[in-house]
Amino acid sequence: VRGVEAQAERPDGTRWPFLPFPTPLRDLSGKLVGAVNMLVDISDRKDAETRQKSLLAELNHRVKNNMQMLHALLRGAEREAGSAEAEAILRAASRRVGAMAAAQQVLYDAKSAVRFDAGDFLRALCRSAQQSFADQAAIVVHADEGMLPNDAAMPLALILNELLTNAVRHGRRGDRPVGIRVALARDSDGWHLSVADDGPGFVLEPTPRRASGLGLVTGLAGQLGGQLSVDREKGARCAVDFPAAPSVG
Ligand SMILES: Nc1ncnc2c1ncn2[C@@H]1O[C@H](COP(=O)(O)OP(=O)(O)OP(=O)(O)O)[C@@H](O)[C@H]1O
Ligand SMILES: [Mg+2]
Repeated sequence: VRGVEAQAERPDGTRWPFLPFPTPLRDLSGKLVGAVNMLVDISDRKDAETRQKSLLAELNHRVKNNMQMLHALLRGAEREAGSAEAEAILRAASRRVGAMAAAQQVLYDAKSAVRFDAGDFLRALCRSAQQSFADQAAIVVHADEGMLPNDAAMPLALILNELLTNAVRHGRRGDRPVGIRVALARDSDGWHLSVADDGPGFVLEPTPRRASGLGLVTGLAGQLGGQLSVDREKGARCAVDFPAAPSVG
């Protein structure tokens, strides 16, 4: 058994981590006559690991704070905008950065450094969107159990933001809030993200403008190895299906 870490205690009571390398000794007939157990001190390696972990935590903390600051700056710019057009553009940019900041917060809070809980992610993003849309939308969330790789967080956050923004912008009738159901379901084919609203619905243009919201969604879905589709049930239902372990390209 190689590579199983253990702790040894010195006579003075201090402890040091080591790796044991046990080697059996046999005579010519193969009979076990003894053993040598070499203990390799790995204190230096452990110190380096600890330093690396705290550096990574520090870096994550800064990225998260910088994104929140960027979001606040854009919201400030939106309030200062001199024209309706400038305000709309700044609001769209500020929503996108807000979605990225919310995703970064989830990565920062996650127990693992490489993956995150799908449900925690979806709920956090929808909570942030609900705050931003206030009484224009009533969002209901459902997520299946499962973990996603960190790479998938930003594309998913931006996809969700575009689909929610569309539901509010194009699905609302009169002054009533638009009802939105967001789901992230998992089956043997992979993940299925859907955003359904109770508005008038629409038919997806074969080639959406690249720079438009749905153009962006199409590109990001491709990054996840997935695809966008649109159904028209009672309202609009936009879905992005992608593999269970997306390798983001
Ligand atoms: N949930 C929805 N309900 C009804 N129509 C929708 C919905 N989502 C999209 N659409 C229709 O599809 C069109 C394309 O959407 P897309 O997000 O690409 O552009 P946009 O929302 O008009 O502008 P932007 O580039 O700012 O997102 C919209 O203009 C709208 O007509
Ligand atoms: Mg849009």
